[in-house]
Amino acid sequence: MVNKITVVGAGNVGATTAQRIAEKELARTVVMVDVMEGIPQGKALDQWQSAPIEGFDSRVIGTNTYDETHDSEIVVITAGIARKPGMSRDDLLNTNAGIVKQVSEQIRTTSPNAILIVVSNPLDVMSYVAMKVTGFPRQRVLGMAGVLDTARYRAFIAEALDVSVRDIQAMVLGGHGDTMVPLISYTSVSGIPITQLMPQAKLNAIVERTRGGGAEIVKHLKTGSAYYAPSAAAVQMCESIVFDQKRILPCAAWLEGEYGMSGLFLGVPCKLGRGGIEKIIEVELTREERDALAKSADAVREPMGAVKL
Ligand code: APR
Repeated sequence: MVNKITVVGAGNVGATTAQRIAEKELARTVVMVDVMEGIPQGKALDQWQSAPIEGFDSRVIGTNTYDETHDSEIVVITAGIARKPGMSRDDLLNTNAGIVKQVSEQIRTTSPNAILIVVSNPLDVMSYVAMKVTGFPRQRVLGMAGVLDTARYRAFIAEALDVSVRDIQAMVLGGHGDTMVPLISYTSVSGIPITQLMPQAKLNAIVERTRGGGAEIVKHLKTGSAYYAPSAAAVQMCESIVFDQKRILPCAAWLEGEYGMSGLFLGVPCKLGRGGIEKIIEVELTREERDALAKSADAVREPMGAVKL
């Protein structure tokens, strides 16, 4: 357990993230910060009162200022607006960039040694904003996307094969958008290559459903976007950092030559430990996967160039 984890944004993703962190006792204190008066305080109090029932000793605190967040070991940024039907993640660009900028300025001074996990969308660009504004090294700024996209992909495969989700190993790389790259060549069921268990056409349909996984949920909800799986994904990343598990998880990382690319955040396999991103793993890709990753990088560079800082 670490001393303190802050979650910025006490909306759907933020509050669910804070609750999962507390239930897993990843931090002694979990601080939820939001600009809405009373919301983080009320939700935090409610969550903390579930502690005697759920049996956790983490203390959850809600606040509108950064005083209580001082010296957080990890900060999860979920502040921003969520998608509505018909909106792409990029439609959130400048509103969320302004919010993430303001949040990052606060964190830079109150928690200068924190590891940042960015969840606000468009994810890859918001991670860039957070790194640029805080000036933190790239090991300490990571974006949550790949774990979520991979979870969706694994869930769909498990359902199609009628097997346990636990036995699906897979990795989705690239940007967190329609161009994401589920790696079929690295998808297996308890070590059995997926191509031996499923016809290509069915697999292609699952890849497409994964790419539109977030939009499918927005279409149902109408007033917001997904939060149960996104919060679970962010917390899995926190857990690997807190317990120095050194798990290999797909995260948005700032590339400096890896995969032949530089100067952007892109989803790649990362080893996550107490130092944050301890290693970016470069795997062999098929020609098709390499092309798809390059296309995905282009889709990230475009909004990155348009963001106003
Ligand atoms: N500082 C702190 N909190 C802020 C700020 C800010 N400057 N600006 C907005 N917020 C808060 C809002 O008050 C709100 O409570 O961020 C919260 C966002 O919550 P929701 O609207 O419920 O959105 P949510 O579903 O949690 O999504 C948040 O995560 O997955 C992404 O695309 C999603 O960018 C979106 C983000």
